[in-house]
Amino acid sequence: MKIQLITQASPSLSRLFIIDDSSDWDLLPLTSQHISYIGACVDKKQHLITFNEFGTITMVLFLQKEDATYRTDENCRQKGMTVINTLNQHKVEEVLIENLSNLPHASLLLAEGISLGNYQFLKYKQEAANLRHSLQTISILESDAGANKVAELQTIIEAVYIARNLVNEPLSYLTAPQISQEIAICSQAAGFKHTLFDKKRIEEEKMGGLLAVNKGSVDPPTFNILEWKPENAVNEQPIVLVGKGIVYDTGGLSLKSTTNSMDHMKCDMGGAAAVIGALYAVSKNKLPLYVVGLVPATDNRPGGNAYAPGDVIKMRSGHTVEVLNTDAEGRMILADGLDYAKSYNPSLVIDIATLTGGALMTIAQEGMLLFSNASSEDTKTISEVGFQVFERLWEMPLWSEFSDKLKSNIADFKNVGGRQASSITAAKFLQNFTDFPWMHIDMASMGWMYQGQGYRLKQGSGAGVRLFYHFFTAKLNHYLNNSDTGQTSGVQAIETI
Ligand code: BES
Ligand code: ZN
Ligand code: ZN
Repeated sequence: MKIQLITQASPSLSRLFIIDDSSDWDLLPLTSQHISYIGACVDKKQHLITFNEFGTITMVLFLQKEDATYRTDENCRQKGMTVINTLNQHKVEEVLIENLSNLPHASLLLAEGISLGNYQFLKYKQEAANLRHSLQTISILESDAGANKVAELQTIIEAVYIARNLVNEPLSYLTAPQISQEIAICSQAAGFKHTLFDKKRIEEEKMGGLLAVNKGSVDPPTFNILEWKPENAVNEQPIVLVGKGIVYDTGGLSLKSTTNSMDHMKCDMGGAAAVIGALYAVSKNKLPLYVVGLVPATDNRPGGNAYAPGDVIKMRSGHTVEVLNTDAEGRMILADGLDYAKSYNPSLVIDIATLTGGALMTIAQEGMLLFSNASSEDTKTISEVGFQVFERLWEMPLWSEFSDKLKSNIADFKNVGGRQASSITAAKFLQNFTDFPWMHIDMASMGWMYQGQGYRLKQGSGAGVRLFYHFFTAKLNHYLNNSDTGQTSGVQAIETI
C-alpha cells in the first residue's frame, strides 16, 4: 500500500471526507441535495455514506467521539475496514482522504486502518492476480498531515506487513535458516546491521537451551542479532528486544495432544516477527535511538535425537534446567537470548513471545500480558502506548512465591510450574536469566487471530510492531525532554501518531 501526500484533488479521483458534528458541511464540495441526504443519513445513524457517480466514488464518514481519546482513535482506524470493503467492491485504486473533522490526526488514523485492513497474503494462491484488492494508494491532502508523518506511517505499515507475512508463512518455507535470510533482506532494505550465529557459533556460545530445543530438528538453529546504532543516538546503553523464534511448535516429545492445537503453531515465531518489524521500522525511519533485537530460532519437534522430559540442560548462563515438558520450549530459547542481552549492558530489555496458552485463556484476543520489573515510568509508558495503538497490555504480578513452583529435585529449576498461573510461572522462569530492567510480553493471546477484529485481520496479527515503534518514539521524547542541554543531537521531539 502506498500512502502519499498530494496538493489537490483531480476531478476523477475517488474521495473520502471525514466529518463530525463540529464540521462546516458547506465546505464539502457537494451539492445541497447531497448535503441534505448526508444529514438524513446521519440522523438515522448511518455514518458512512457512499455516492457513485460514473465510477468515481465519493464517501462521507461521520465520526463520533468516544469517552476516551484512544477509543475515538481506534474507532477511526476501524472505520477504515468499512471503507475498504466499499472501495474494493467498486474497484477503486486510489482514494483521497480529506479531513473536515476536529480530530487532528483523523486522516492518518483512517489511512492506518485502511492500509492494515487491506493486507492480503496471496503468495500461495494461483488466482492471486484476480483476488488482489484493487486499492493500492491512499492520498492525504497536504494541509491535513506533514510529509514526515506520512512517510513514518508508510514505514510502520510496511513493518506490520513484514511481521504478518512472517507469521503467515508455513514451516515448509520459514525454517530457522530461512528466517535469518528474511532478516538479512530487511536489514538491507531498512539499514540495521544483521549478525547471524550459525550452529557452530551457537555451540561456542554454549546456548544450551536453544541447542536442546533444536535437537529433534532436521534444520540447524540460528541466532540473529539486529542492531540499530545511529551516530546521533540519544542513549548509550541500548534497549534490547528479544523475540521467541520457534518457527513451528509441535510440543516435541511432549507432543501437543489437544485436537487442532498444532494447526496454527507456525505462529510461534510471532515474537520474533514483532522484533524484526520493530527493527525495520526504527531503522528505516532513522529514529535516533540505539536498539538491538535478538532472535533465537528453531522449530520444536520430536525426532530420534530430540530432547526428552527428564533431561537436564546447561544453559548459556550456567544455570541447569530439568526439562519436564518439552512443549515449554519458548522459555528455553528465550533464556539464552536474555542471557546474551547482558553483554550489551542494556538500559532496558523487553522480550516478546507466544509463550503460554494461559495468556489466551486469561485475556482472550483482547490484549497481551505484561510482566515488568523495569521502572514504573517505562511500565506506565508502554501500557499507555498499548492503549494508544490498541495493542493493549495488562500487567500481571511477578510475586516471588510463584518461583517455588519451579524448584527441581536435581537441577537449578524445572522448566514448568504446573497448570495454575502458567503464564506467571513462565515469566518467573525467564526472570532467572535477567540482571537488568526487564519486561516480558506474553503475546500467545494475540499472535494469531482466530477471528478478525476489523483491520486486525484473521491469521498473523503483526502485533507488537506498532507497540514497540511508538514506545520508542515516546522514550525518545523522554530522553529529549530530560536532556540537560536540550540540544541533544538536534533532534526535534517526535509526536506519536
Ligand atoms: N507455543 C506454545 C504457546 C501457545 C499457545 C502459543 C497457544 C500460541 C497459542 C508454548 O510453547 C506452549 O506450548 N506452552 C505450554 C507450556 C506448558 C507445557 C507449561 C502451554 O502454555 O500450554
Ligand atoms: Zn510449546
Ligand atoms: Zn511454543
